[in-house]
Amino acid sequence: MITSSFQFTHAAAQHMAAVPDGSVDLIVTSPPYPMVEMWDDCFSRQSGAVAAAMEAGDWDGAFEQMHRVLDGVWDECCRVLRQGGFACINIGDATRSCGGTFRLFSNHARILRALEERGLFCLPDIHWRKPSNAPSKFMGSGMYPAGAYVTYEHEYILIFRKGGKRVFRTRDEVERRRESAYFWEERNTWFSDLWEINGAPQALKNCPSRARSAAFPLEVPYRLVNMYSAYGDTVLDPFGGLGTTALACAGAMRSCRIYDADAALLRCARDLFAHSLPLFQALPRQRLERHQAFLSALDPQARERCYQNLPHGFLVKTQQERQLRLYRPQSIAPLGAEGFTLSYAPWE
Ligand SMILES: C[S@@+](CC[C@H](N)C(=O)[O-])C[C@H]1O[C@@H](n2cnc3c(N)ncnc32)[C@H](O)[C@@H]1O
Repeated sequence: MITSSFQFTHAAAQHMAAVPDGSVDLIVTSPPYPMVEMWDDCFSRQSGAVAAAMEAGDWDGAFEQMHRVLDGVWDECCRVLRQGGFACINIGDATRSCGGTFRLFSNHARILRALEERGLFCLPDIHWRKPSNAPSKFMGSGMYPAGAYVTYEHEYILIFRKGGKRVFRTRDEVERRRESAYFWEERNTWFSDLWEINGAPQALKNCPSRARSAAFPLEVPYRLVNMYSAYGDTVLDPFGGLGTTALACAGAMRSCRIYDADAALLRCARDLFAHSLPLFQALPRQRLERHQAFLSALDPQARERCYQNLPHGFLVKTQQERQLRLYRPQSIAPLGAEGFTLSYAPWE
């Protein structure tokens, strides 16, 4: 029986003492966005310097102090990440009128610098384009020149690695990596630098602390987990929110640990996870269905150049997909007071 484990911890991620050094294979996260109004109180509660700068109308000071709150979490992330492990950080820049002047605060640039200063290497990032239907999306002086602003409809997924390429040493590790291969057509979409994915629904019912979840859509962590980790790996989300990263990991047979400073939200995340077995089962099934649709669209000559996948028997485009194996989440059980275990069986 193959299992993965899921831990939901209520704590500020500046102190992840329960996570040993170098024990995390991948970090996938999205912090609160500095200088986006929704997060002003969250930062002010965590730092008197943020509250004082906001009070004084010192916008640049507030921006920097908010990032210092995040820096404490980046310190911990760099400690717990293994050599060769990846960190994927989803962040949007903030646009805001400050004292009557419209400005952009470049969160992604500040986070890039923070992680590089902590020794991680920066890799090519992804622009996540999130089309907006808002009628008021054009900002500024209408049709007259020199006073309007570009509509901001993208966020960043910054990608970092700790040290050089990860080494898969033992036979078991090599085997797990081969089974975790992605399909050729997934590679072509996932490793593009532009992702067009709609935002997730934000309304939160039954959560006393929050009306909006600020969750990213499941597709974002699901792709990242499949791209940058292997079956059985451990993924960390220090700003876990509603637990979207944990949901993605459950469907992808990775273990996951999430932290969040908001106890009520974390309870909602645990509850959502406990009732999501059908979603976990749908994720690998949808991969298979998309692959079958891809094969049906191939012309006969292209099909002839395909290889046969060994565990499942379907055709695949490349040799590296021959050992790709899908697993079906089978059952979910509680693990201690805060977590869950999931068991999996090979896909028949
Ligand atoms: C943008 S949301 C993350 C949403 C998440 N990706 C999801 O899909 O639900 C940021 C989260 O960080 C949490 N947070 C803020 N400061 C924190 C801290 N110091 N440690 C841990 N969590 C924190 C907030 O409570 C919020 O849930």
